[in-house]
Amino acid sequence: MKAIQIDRLGGPEVMELREIPKPELKPGTVIVKNQVIAINFGDLFFTQGTYLVKPVFPDTPGMEAAGVIDAVAPDVPSLKPGTRVAYIGMGSYAEYTRIRANRVIPIPDELSLEEAAAFPIAVLTAWHMLHTCHRLEPHQVVIVHSAAGGVGIAAVQIAKAAGARVFGTVSSDAKAAIVRQYGADEVINYETHDFAAEALRLTDGRGVDLILDAVGKPTFTKGLSCLAMFGHLILYGRAGGAPDRFDPLSLFAKALKVSGWAVPMVYQYHDIHRRGLEAVFRLSREGKLRIPVGRSFPLAEARAAHEYLLSRQSVGKLLLIP
Ligand SMILES: NC(=O)c1ccc[n+]([C@@H]2O[C@H](COP(=O)([O-])OP(=O)(O)OC[C@H]3O[C@@H](n4cnc5c(N)ncnc54)[C@H](OP(=O)(O)O)[C@@H]3O)[C@@H](O)[C@H]2O)c1
Repeated sequence: MKAIQIDRLGGPEVMELREIPKPELKPGTVIVKNQVIAINFGDLFFTQGTYLVKPVFPDTPGMEAAGVIDAVAPDVPSLKPGTRVAYIGMGSYAEYTRIRANRVIPIPDELSLEEAAAFPIAVLTAWHMLHTCHRLEPHQVVIVHSAAGGVGIAAVQIAKAAGARVFGTVSSDAKAAIVRQYGADEVINYETHDFAAEALRLTDGRGVDLILDAVGKPTFTKGLSCLAMFGHLILYGRAGGAPDRFDPLSLFAKALKVSGWAVPMVYQYHDIHRRGLEAVFRLSREGKLRIPVGRSFPLAEARAAHEYLLSRQSVGKLLLIP
């Protein structure tokens, strides 16, 4: 089968398209024939060796895809060949991937594979930050940084569906127009405007209740300064670099909260995971959650796709097609 492989750490240039053996079934797993592979920002960290999971050379990047089950281990009675699924699991930049059965999500008929590919990581990250890590209430004000991105555009819609007032931040006016179309009440170009000052202005000095921050260094400290009383900042990434260290005592005066988030752990908590899945599929059925595909690249052009993601032009999900 065709797969992308790396045998050294680095940027997009370390990825090569190769012919490698198809994976074999192991107990507790399924083989998925990937039809749509979702690119995540974490894939860039993986090839650089700075992601949670480290490459074992030669290794295949990728952690999310949708396709059809090709084969099922005998000890997995719950899944059948031919079922349309999406999954979270390493090694998705390939024609076939072996995945642990509990990381596989059967997808509803009405959902296209292109949309479904964004659910296991991007969409569930957005939903669980808003409703598990935070308990979003309709009167609350939320800042979603990088609001045009894969997680961001889902978070804007999920927060709106819950009745919140949503401020998105983006780095270009072109992205701002798109984020407005997906329901954001206000969009701030944080390259040209100070987002914290804007957030305070838009809330008459009160500040916001929740910030979803995967940018890090340029946004974290400033974010703390525009939280309302009892405000909450969830740090779930570092596209702009790791945040500066901060003094926890600075949280006292406004009783602030800072949380972290990593989506894979939710798959270990069956009830929480099921609640999230039911909610996001319902929102999708009701037309309240749509995941735009920004661009698709053939698998062989994975390098160009990563360069595009690094360029900050990407909107919605970026896909690879095997
Ligand atoms: N913890 C978790 O479980 C989890 C799960 C999924 C994703 N994440 C994190 O969530 C973030 C979004 O992931 P995604 O896959 O949906 O990507 P994405 O948002 O589609 O793309 C990343 C976006 O980050 C913004 N960005 C800010 N500073 C940047 C910089 N210096 N270089 C490149 N981009 C920069 C860009 O948007 P603007 O230019 O508009 O700011 C860019 O479009 C990533 O940081 C990712 O690591 C975390």
